[in-house]
Amino acid sequence: MVRSFPNIVVTGTPGTGKSTLSGQICEAFALADGRHPMRHINAGPLAIQKHFVASRDAEWDSVEVDEDALLDYLESMSGGVAPDPIEEDPEGCAQARDMPLDSDTRGGLVLDWHTCDAWPERWVDLVVVLRCNHELIWKRLEKRHYSEKKIAENNEAEIMGVVEDEARSAYPQEAIIVLPSETSDQLESHAERIVAWIHAWRQQRGLES
Ligand SMILES: Nc1ncnc2c1ncn2[C@@H]1O[C@H](COP(=O)(O)OP(=O)(O)OP(=O)(O)O)[C@@H](O)[C@H]1O
Ligand SMILES: [Mg+2]
Repeated sequence: MVRSFPNIVVTGTPGTGKSTLSGQICEAFALADGRHPMRHINAGPLAIQKHFVASRDAEWDSVEVDEDALLDYLESMSGGVAPDPIEEDPEGCAQARDMPLDSDTRGGLVLDWHTCDAWPERWVDLVVVLRCNHELIWKRLEKRHYSEKKIAENNEAEIMGVVEDEARSAYPQEAIIVLPSETSDQLESHAERIVAWIHAWRQQRGLES
């Protein structure tokens, strides 16, 4: 089995704009017939909705996700292997081309989570790490009425680049892009750039002209 749309990890400290960007990517990427095949997987809320919860931490007002259950749930949607570009993998690309565009196993997941090393490397075609000035993060999280302790922890994690380090140790360097997420103009230009990258990924595999 092969996937016909790439899977993209969008990660970053809470408040960096992952969900906003992921939503924009899925809305902006459209096929010629107007369909939107990319799927936004907002992992935290999905895990809670599906009861993939290993434990709850009242002090931090957070849950520990049962990652095995979450990955089992997403496994078939993530699609099979990614075909290589058409010159190297004509058979894989032909299989991907024969797949119905709305197949549930097409891939095309935008995996939105503040941690990223849980996703199997074989699922992932691109890793987007969002970064943001820590004072701005503080303001964004204050608006959500998070506890000061939780805001401080996230603020410090952003200063130390914890999520970027995690991405760099989990995925090939060439699959990772690190983008600033401080203004709405940046968000829009990142969404455009990633949509262009998805089209190029499909064109290299003969899936779009
Ligand atoms: N690039 C940006 N420019 C301006 N505002 C932004 C930008 N990115 C996000 N925001 C704003 O910051 C807030 C947090 O964004 P969002 O909910 O997308 O973050 P998140 O990374 O998904 O957070 P969490 O990990 O907690 O789910 C929202 O109010 C959003 O509108
Ligand atoms: Mg979010």
